[in-house]
Amino acid sequence: MTELQRPIYITTPLYYVNDELHIGHATTTVYADTLARFWRSCGRPVLLLTGSDEHGQKIHKAATAAGTTPRGFADRIVGKFNELWEKLDVQHDIFIRTTDPFHEAAVQKVFERLKAADLLYKSAYKALYCVECETNYTEKDLLDGACPVHKTKPQVVEEENYFFKLSAFTEKLQKHIESHPDCIVPEPRRNEILGKLREGLNDTSVTRVQFDWGVPLPWEPKHVIWVWTDALVNYISALGWPDNDHFPTDEFPGRARHQHATPPGNKPFEYWWPEAVHIVGKDILWHHSVIWWSELLGAGVQPPKQVFAHGWWQVEGDKMSKTLGNVIRPGDIADKYGRDALRYHILREGPQRGDSDWRHASFVTRYNADLANGLGNLVNRSLNMLNKYFDGEVPAECKFEHEKLEGLRQDLIGHVNDLSDRLLADVRAFDLNAALEQIWVLVRDSNAFVNEAAPFKLAKDPTRKQDLQASMHALCEVLHALAYALKPFLPDAAQRIADQLGIDLAERLPAALNWGRLLPGHKIGTPAPLFARLDEQANG
Ligand code: MSP
Repeated sequence: MTELQRPIYITTPLYYVNDELHIGHATTTVYADTLARFWRSCGRPVLLLTGSDEHGQKIHKAATAAGTTPRGFADRIVGKFNELWEKLDVQHDIFIRTTDPFHEAAVQKVFERLKAADLLYKSAYKALYCVECETNYTEKDLLDGACPVHKTKPQVVEEENYFFKLSAFTEKLQKHIESHPDCIVPEPRRNEILGKLREGLNDTSVTRVQFDWGVPLPWEPKHVIWVWTDALVNYISALGWPDNDHFPTDEFPGRARHQHATPPGNKPFEYWWPEAVHIVGKDILWHHSVIWWSELLGAGVQPPKQVFAHGWWQVEGDKMSKTLGNVIRPGDIADKYGRDALRYHILREGPQRGDSDWRHASFVTRYNADLANGLGNLVNRSLNMLNKYFDGEVPAECKFEHEKLEGLRQDLIGHVNDLSDRLLADVRAFDLNAALEQIWVLVRDSNAFVNEAAPFKLAKDPTRKQDLQASMHALCEVLHALAYALKPFLPDAAQRIADQLGIDLAERLPAALNWGRLLPGHKIGTPAPLFARLDEQANG
């Protein structure tokens, strides 16, 4: 099977329902949605999953504080998640909730398998637990006695619980990671995990008794299963594991979006799992590699193909926190500037590799430079000139008589014809910023081409008719390529360019992204500005 025929299963984390989503959550989701859209636009079978993590102490605490039940609380917040994903047009195929009964049943099955494999034992437990992370720490992990992620003092927990023999997996995981060089990307994150594995793994407590908001252990229901070992199972329970039941529509009423989610042969787990890719933030890479893969191996399931872990946003140089009052709400940004502007900022300035800083000034600068003056201006002036000089009809291709301009045209042709390969390479490497930079080199070169060829001057000179035709044909081809190239990244802008150009974006990449796709005489639609320039102060 070629790469584009192989089904790919892309997941976001399941977000906790203790609070509304912020820019960090939107970032993980936009990365996943963009990857999913890219592969879909290549005709590759894609399944995109997101959802909600609803069990555990953190949710229990938030619900109690709000004077409601965890279930009622979760329902309300899940409604808000869905509103946000709708607003951002995130095209997930599945929205799973960890309170979905089929999920709870799968978690119990995993635990039965761990028990049968003799990987669970009971032991007294004294640990430091950060409720915010829902994770145990040792004294050594803490920074000045506080959780390294949340900077809060962990709870001291003393109970008799079930332990999972995580220590049995140190070598297996080392071997797995060494023999699958791309299973954790980018490389520094993989080294981080290998480094931790060299220290050896400690067994970890995977049930709790002083608390009941979770999945009960089947053979001793006063124990509820640790929220992480519960939630991680979603990635396979959503596929109907272990019996391929519950998939997709009956258990996801109204939530399964794409037809191709139902695979041939109706064996969704076998179909989707081999190329499962988890998109997560660096804070939960440990859970998504070490904990999850050990749990899977213990239950007799192969680990997923890949985990991509991105960094974190700060805001104007500070940690983003409710206390500081600097939480960036993605819905507000989308309302004010449009969802493509939000996506663009996340994809260009976001923490795909290291950490990033959300700065309003750079948001405004990038928006004006790249979207309004760069892309918007190119599309608008090209189409207006086509209306003016060719009555809105794409002229036949021809060469420039002017040698230097012909050289520039050949450069544009080369760039357009190379673009799909370059985008594929960047997307494979999870470098969406680099992919957009490839597109923006074309935007900038094309704007430079307009300035250099100056069709508005050529139009006044009857001896330069051929050059005018060559320049306008070239610009139409560039816009055609841009609409296709931008489709996964800025879907609204791509659609608007396509409407204005009079095309429907129905063809697939990579073939659609080539020079010479427009027929002479093709009639364009009505030009309209794509992005209004922001006049606000960069710090406004
Ligand atoms: N419920 C768990 C995941 C379980 S998956 C089986 C969880 N949820 S979460 O609501 O805390 O969301 C975590 C995601 O949000 C991670 O990908 C994390 O990196 C991301 N972010 C949270 N704050 C962030 C920033 N400040 N910046 C970027 N992303 C951050 O963990």
